Amino acid sequence: MAEVSAMRDRKILLGVAGGVAAFKAAYLARRLIEAGAQVSVVMTKGATKFVGEQTFRAITRRPVITDLFGAELVSPHTELAAWCDAIVVAPATANLISKVANGQSGDALSATILATDRPVILAPAMHTEMWEQPSTVRNIDMLTMDGRIIVGPVSGPLAGGDSGAGRMVEPEEIMRTIAGLFPETMAGVRLLVTAGGTREAIDPVRYIGNRSSGKMGYAIASEAADRGADVVLITAASLPVPPSVRVVQVESAEEMAEATWGMAESIDVAIMAAAVADFRPVDPAETKLARTDGPPEIVLEETPNVLRGLVERAGDPVKVVGFAAETGSIERAFHKAATYGVDLLVANDVSEQGSGFGTETNRVTFITPDGDAEPLPQMSKAEVASHLMDRVEALLREAADGNLPS
Ligand SMILES: Cc1cc2nc3c(=O)[nH]c(=O)nc-3n(C[C@H](O)[C@H](O)[C@H](O)COP(=O)(O)O)c2cc1C
Repeated sequence: MAEVSAMRDRKILLGVAGGVAAFKAAYLARRLIEAGAQVSVVMTKGATKFVGEQTFRAITRRPVITDLFGAELVSPHTELAAWCDAIVVAPATANLISKVANGQSGDALSATILATDRPVILAPAMHTEMWEQPSTVRNIDMLTMDGRIIVGPVSGPLAGGDSGAGRMVEPEEIMRTIAGLFPETMAGVRLLVTAGGTREAIDPVRYIGNRSSGKMGYAIASEAADRGADVVLITAASLPVPPSVRVVQVESAEEMAEATWGMAESIDVAIMAAAVADFRPVDPAETKLARTDGPPEIVLEETPNVLRGLVERAGDPVKVVGFAAETGSIERAFHKAATYGVDLLVANDVSEQGSGFGTETNRVTFITPDGDAEPLPQMSKAEVASHLMDRVEALLREAADGNLPS
């Protein structure tokens, strides 16, 4: 099912307002959970007259917010607005629709909607007379102009034995609308990411390492998986594994080279974000060096060049993105972009505040082999990953267009 992968690990805020169709929201919550989404529920006071909050708590295994000034969260509207990837209101009553259209925020649900910059889907449900009132029609027009997504209603049996326009669309239709927010633009793409800093043994206890945390590579793996790519992460770091990402754990440059080169012929894209040691001790000691023996003389040799080796082994159709961590200036990165045979180079000055190793943010410049540079402002590593995947998708599209029969 397409929506299963599109919804995986998405954070969906389910708003429930006070209409009879609220019972269907419980089924929607369950379908979202089954599809792998994380679901938080905010109910209006009216909604609690139709379905118990305990039902949603049991389905979602999360606190249910019914009161802006309740005990669960200090500031539910802003916290949930920032937490979620999208808000879905089902059912959306005439009252709730009016509030949202007019920017009101007098209850937990309308306040959360006002506080978010994420997509908002509303599934109206009401009697035909309420739906056709000029005020409701105006409110729906305003919501559409504001970029809110309205799904339904449809005509059919209504509560109390009536029939007509105003029936909420079925939860499956709402599922499809939510899935449409997260298109799988990289479905079928086999993508390899390397991450983390390699460790080169001095003895069984000590190593030469570097300050790379692996966060950038993990953010890329996560973003690519969210877009539906088939992701393998070859990593020297040990961070939580993003959902649906296959991990190959390595330690040294040698191991990273072996794992990466071994996949050269079975991938479409390689993103080489690991910080691979350039040098390693020639002859690591087999037992722990002792202080009493005095400072050792450590002779270094070059490690395998993982990026160069991959480019040599990967066929032309494989899109390769290299990373260059520089200190002081990214001038050398232009040379690397031009000479390594990569399709794109991501350069960053790791000595800059808020950029590079261990930080949550990064400031990078995308450099093409021709020397075209796109400097990005400082942003979170997740945002950098998103920009990078946009560039990778563009490279894949260009390649596909080039292969079309003329
Ligand atoms: C039995 C019953 C059913 C109702 N069904 C709906 C409905 O389907 N749609 C709607 O807009 N209002 C419906 N209402 C009216 C709303 O519950 C009422 O306008 C309430 O103030 C909505 O509050 P809320 O939007 O904060 O949940 C119903 C009321 C009752 C008593």
